[in-house]
Amino acid sequence: MTDLKWWQTAVFYQIYPRSFADGNGDGIGDVKGMIEKLDYLKSLGIDALWLSPHYPSPNFDCGYDISNYTDVDPEYGTLAEFKQFLDEAHRRNIRVILDMVLNHTSDQHAWFIESRSSRDNPKRDWYVWHDGKDGMPPNNWYSTFGGSAWEYDETTDSYYYHFFFKQQPDLNWRNPEVKKAMFDACRFWLEMGVDGFRLDAIGTIYEEEDLRDQDSGVTQEELFRRSKDIENPEQNKEIGELWEEMFRYQHDLPGIHDLMRELREVIEEYPDRMLVGETDEISFYGTGDDELQMVFNFPMLRTEHLTPNWVRENQKTRLALLPELAWPCNTLSNHDSPRVYNRWGDGKNNDALARLNLVLLLTLKGTPFLYNGEEVGMADYLITDVNFMRDQLALFYYDLATKLGGETAEAAAMLAAANSRDKNRTPTQWANTANAGFSPAGVTTWLPVNPNYAEGFNVADQEKDPNSLLNFYRKGIALRRATPALVSGGYQPVNEDDQNVLAYVRSGSHEHCLVVLNFSAEPQQVSFRLAVESVRTLFSTHARPVGEPDLDGLTLQPFEALILEMK
Ligand code: NOJ
Repeated sequence: MTDLKWWQTAVFYQIYPRSFADGNGDGIGDVKGMIEKLDYLKSLGIDALWLSPHYPSPNFDCGYDISNYTDVDPEYGTLAEFKQFLDEAHRRNIRVILDMVLNHTSDQHAWFIESRSSRDNPKRDWYVWHDGKDGMPPNNWYSTFGGSAWEYDETTDSYYYHFFFKQQPDLNWRNPEVKKAMFDACRFWLEMGVDGFRLDAIGTIYEEEDLRDQDSGVTQEELFRRSKDIENPEQNKEIGELWEEMFRYQHDLPGIHDLMRELREVIEEYPDRMLVGETDEISFYGTGDDELQMVFNFPMLRTEHLTPNWVRENQKTRLALLPELAWPCNTLSNHDSPRVYNRWGDGKNNDALARLNLVLLLTLKGTPFLYNGEEVGMADYLITDVNFMRDQLALFYYDLATKLGGETAEAAAMLAAANSRDKNRTPTQWANTANAGFSPAGVTTWLPVNPNYAEGFNVADQEKDPNSLLNFYRKGIALRRATPALVSGGYQPVNEDDQNVLAYVRSGSHEHCLVVLNFSAEPQQVSFRLAVESVRTLFSTHARPVGEPDLDGLTLQPFEALILEMK
């Protein structure tokens, strides 16, 4: 494994700073809290952290609306504290990558305040402005967060473009000054020693210059309405395709790859840094080593059902598309998606499924990304009281359901809660004490705490139980680290017709691992036609019979995840 880079062998862990650890007891996570939890993270065995935005922000989109790229949000701490965090992480051999939001700033960023102030302001062309057509926006493009992508601005009687909320105006990346300013912001953190960036919404940087109308033929309201009543996968697919068509001219335009090559050069001014893009487009790998080091395998995070067939097909397609030097990257959840514990749980066997899914993530080819709290089985917590909703998308859905959908307030709140990202961003559950040990008793946390911390879903209780999910995460991560084939080995699916059991061989130069995952709630009999001299059990979620496992007749327990070492 010596020729692999650190980001190829690493297990990454995403911290959502606002919800991770509250060091000063004000109900909001902060840098001090993150420093205090570094030993915990080390004990978990992870190698690298991805921090969701920690920069100053009005927090309209929970930090993804940055108002200063070279500082720390005062709610989270100071730059000096951040440096301390970085140094302390490095001292423990934990790398840190930051979230870099290149597509847009906050509308409170000094650049935008200047840009909107007058037509001849030097920063005017830093954003995407247009006079509109006959008193209307220049075209029929939508914002992905709802409504027109164009916001009318009275000051200069013109429209600005925003792919996300109107509080997140898009930068004009065709302006070289913008490029320089943003590359310099990257250098600021690279200079300080951060190890790389997760590039937010990287495909949305450029939009079609001629601003031609999209011709999906449907309105966004109609799609939202239809997506509420999806009855079968075909309808889901159709809505997805119409959505794609609707945004066709607003993302993944060819010029982006030249820009990625330039950004790669910026990163390479510093030793050993990396980029991972918030995209699943393979084209962002470039030739395999000239654009981003990794992009996420998002189809896996998005699929409704993780089944052996689905995973096999996903791996087959993606691995075949990768350029020679490109390295895959897998994840099952993040701050934008439902939590893995309930998402792929069945309500009865959530714990067993969480273990099975972790083994899958840790043994597939590529770098795994975990999301804070999943190691103790944190689940989505539906916040149905409008007063406690913080994700503006939730409020958007609420309005949509009441105004357009004619829903009752109660039904609208349920819909908003289910579509909101608040549910998977609740404070981390550290202990079975008030506020789950996230903040002191009596403090109102920024989002309500999931009360299931009192049912064992917290770090302190699970620390004490050798069989807890937390300790299972530790074992799984440690096993991966100790088994080069699971990190650098090839991937070869076996028994591809099995509907219940997913099996693949990861072959290293010295060892071969057979990973066998029973996705069913029934015991399964499997046999493998593999020419081997010896086999031994390396790892299992269940107690295994003593003696050498017999590849000709293996019995698997329901949801068992088994790893065999073969020579
Ligand atoms: C993707 C981020 O993950 C999401 O949280 C954010 O709302 C959008 N990009 C806009 O920055």
